[in-house]
Amino acid sequence: MTPRHLLLAGAIALALSACGKSPAPATETPAPTPAPTEQAAPADTEAAATESPVEATPVEAAPAATATGSKPAIVANCAATIESNDAMQYNADSITVPASCNTFTIHLKHVGQMPVAAMGHNIVVAKEADMRAIAADGMTVTPEHLKAGDERVIAHTAMIGGGGTSSLSFDVALIKDGGPYRFFCSFPGHLALMQGSLQVQ
Ligand code: CO
Repeated sequence: MTPRHLLLAGAIALALSACGKSPAPATETPAPTPAPTEQAAPADTEAAATESPVEATPVEAAPAATATGSKPAIVANCAATIESNDAMQYNADSITVPASCNTFTIHLKHVGQMPVAAMGHNIVVAKEADMRAIAADGMTVTPEHLKAGDERVIAHTAMIGGGGTSSLSFDVALIKDGGPYRFFCSFPGHLALMQGSLQVQ
């Protein structure tokens, strides 16, 4: 194997492990992967391990299993502005981060008038799998409604009331793998309406 092939094989292994699914044969990659473990064993051989996922479904081109939203935020210069209001809403439910960005910034505006204690909004970026626990653990923490030092939080704005603004920035590499990721408001009770998808593309 040339070093170049080794690199390729390594990258493919990384990509496969990162997507967290059983490794189906990569049909579209022309790389000569000498990985015999990826070949599904013929059904009539007994050699395969008992738990061998012979019926593994093919990996979809886009592994986005969750809703990507219907109101995409406008993204320019590696940043997006999200508005929130007194009706417990963001004005977007999807943010697509260009893969060319190193750092991405989200500006949050509260265009309502209600005070932060009654209609507070923030934006928290985290794995979808961590979202509910983050909000639950921040329930009683005022005014931020985030547990101090919560390591599941990738980035967050301040909690703001009507007329307020706050921004967050994060390293795009942090959300390239291991998702899906979402953005949401951790104010008690707001998660149900105030969340959206966050993907790199
Ligand atoms: Co809110």
